Parts: sequence; C-alpha cells; structure tokens
Amino acid sequence: MEMNIALLPGDGIGPEVIAQAVKVIQAVAKKFGHTIHFETAPVGAAAIDLTGDPYPESTHAVCLRADAVLFGAIGDPKYDNDPKAKVRPEQGLLAMRKKLGLFANVRPTFTFPSLVHKSPLKLDRVDGVDFVFFRELTGGIYFGEPRGRNEQGTKAFDTNVYTKEEITRLARMGFEAAQKRRKLLTCVDKANVLATSRLWRETVQELAPEYPDVKVEYEFVDAVAMRLIQWPKAYDVLITENLFGDILTDEASVISGSMGLMPSASLGTENKLFEPIHGSYPQAAGKDIANPLGTILSAAMMFDYAFDLKDEAAAISDVVNRSLSEGIVTEDIADGAKAYKTSEVGDWLAENL
Ligand code: IPM
Ligand code: MN
Repeated sequence: MEMNIALLPGDGIGPEVIAQAVKVIQAVAKKFGHTIHFETAPVGAAAIDLTGDPYPESTHAVCLRADAVLFGAIGDPKYDNDPKAKVRPEQGLLAMRKKLGLFANVRPTFTFPSLVHKSPLKLDRVDGVDFVFFRELTGGIYFGEPRGRNEQGTKAFDTNVYTKEEITRLARMGFEAAQKRRKLLTCVDKANVLATSRLWRETVQELAPEYPDVKVEYEFVDAVAMRLIQWPKAYDVLITENLFGDILTDEASVISGSMGLMPSASLGTENKLFEPIHGSYPQAAGKDIANPLGTILSAAMMFDYAFDLKDEAAAISDVVNRSLSEGIVTEDIADGAKAYKTSEVGDWLAENL
C-alpha cells in the first residue's frame, strides 16, 4: 500500500518523539512492503515563530493532502504566563481540529503489566483496566458563540452548544467501538443540570435500539470522575462532550501508570490525526530523554484506524511490549535501572520490529 503521512512535530519534545515514530513506521513499511511518503509542516509555537500563525494555511494544505497526520505536541512556556498574548500555540490545535473536522477524539486507557506498579491506584483496581473515551472535539463550550466579555470587561461568558447531528455522529462511533469490544457504552453527561446534556442523553437513547447488542449506561460526569478512581474496570467505551472529555481523559491518562505511553486519535469523516496524550514537556526538549512510546503507539493506532492494517498495528504494539519487558526504556520508566535515550529506544524498536 502507498501512504502519505503528514508529520507535525510541533513544540518541545515533539520533534524528538516524532523522529522515533518515523523510524518505526519505516521499519513497518519495510517489513510489510508498503511505500510511505512523509511531508513535514510546522504547528504551534514553532509555526508562530516562522509565520505568526500557529496553524498556517500551508500546514493545513499538507494535512489535507495526507492520508493521515502524525502530530507531536504543542505548547511553549513563553506563552503560559502571558494572559495578554495575542496568539497562542493552543489556538493552532483548536483551529486544526476544527478545519480538519476532527470531531471524535479517541483516548484509550490500558495497562502494561510491567508498569502497573506506577499507577497511583491499588494494583487490584488497575490491573487489566481497558477502556476508551470518545470525546467530542469540535463543538461544545470550546467553540460555542457568543463568547467573550462585556464592554467594561467585568463579565465573561462562554456558550455550550450542541446539535443533535454533532451528538449523533460521535455517539455512533462510540456504539460501533463498543460492538467490537465488551459491548458496554457509558454516556457521560450532566443531564440533571444542563440542557445540552439532556439533548445528549435523549439522542443516545434514540440511537440505542439500533445497537441492541450494546448495553448503555448513563452517568453524571461528577460520578464518573469518582468511579474512574474507585473502579476503572467498570468501563468499556465512554462518550462525552468536549469539556467533560478534556478533564476526564487527563484523569484517565494517569490511571494505568503509563501516561507517557498513551496514544490518541482524532477522527473526522475526511481526515485523521494521531498524537500522544502527553504534552510538549519543554523541560526535556532537546535532551534526548523523552519517552517516545506514546507517539509510537499513536503510529500503531494510525495503521489501525487510518489504514485498517491490523497486523502492522499489532507489530508495533508487540515490539513496544518487548522493549518494556527487556528494559529498553527511557528514564521516566527505568526505575533506577539503565535508562536509554529517546533515540536509542527508537533505534531498538525499528531494529527489532
Ligand atoms: C487536549 C488539550 C487541549 C484541549 C488544549 C491544549 C487546547 O488539553 O488536547 O486535551 O483542551 O483540548
Ligand atoms: Mn486536555
């Protein structure tokens, strides 16, 4: 198969972890006989420095002509403490999601036996956890109008808006994922308070008869925040709106003890983007110490979701598992044993795939 992959390394450790994913993708291509073309483009603070725009038109064009986008990280501390900054790297991410129509953010949480002891939860609660969030990504309070301040600047407002259509397309992805997994779907909302949440619940209730093999549960977001800690094994597929999903997926990302390893996908009808859950980790940038596995497992998700190449995806997961059991890991998970460099982990994975 011939594939065009857009590489958006972004900021901080982004370029280093993307470089390792490229090594692994090339090894996959060689092993399975694929031809892969890469095209690299700037995004985030890196793009602001070059063009003044965190998601320039030229980068958008690169994403549009690619079959899949592999994205590193966005964010630079020089913008964080400047509330008056006119453009910020994060705007690039939001613009990219919106312009590429990436309405479903898929964020799995699963465990690696060799890392579960790093979980903040007791072993019996976390061992074998395996759930996935489908977070709505291009609607809700992140994008709703009106937003802003009154003239005096003494009042600020954001608007949460959802249409039935936006909820339906996200919910259908959740239902379909549940059918391929343990057939449990949890709709996370705040239907006891919010009109948008009531529309979510109503829409999901209407869709449920089309998926008779899926059991549907409705839970309030505050209760889910609690139960994710108490008994995360209760969940299989969770669907939720943009802001709830933002918060809960950060909570979820630490449960397995492998936050640096968790991948994600952002899917639309036309475009598909893959990125690690972790951020730009500016303190580690350029030091060759960042853990590349989140990006490499995102590349595995890419083979699965963008190209439906399950063997290729599995080959990446397998070699990652072997690197973990053989201790070929970066310092964040080395546990006092020898720590390997980012680039050494990438080389080892490519050679052993
Ligand atoms: C995420 C991030 C973004 C979000 C920020 C950086 C805009 O937290 O991808 O979860 O809130 O969606
Ligand atoms: Mn977030």
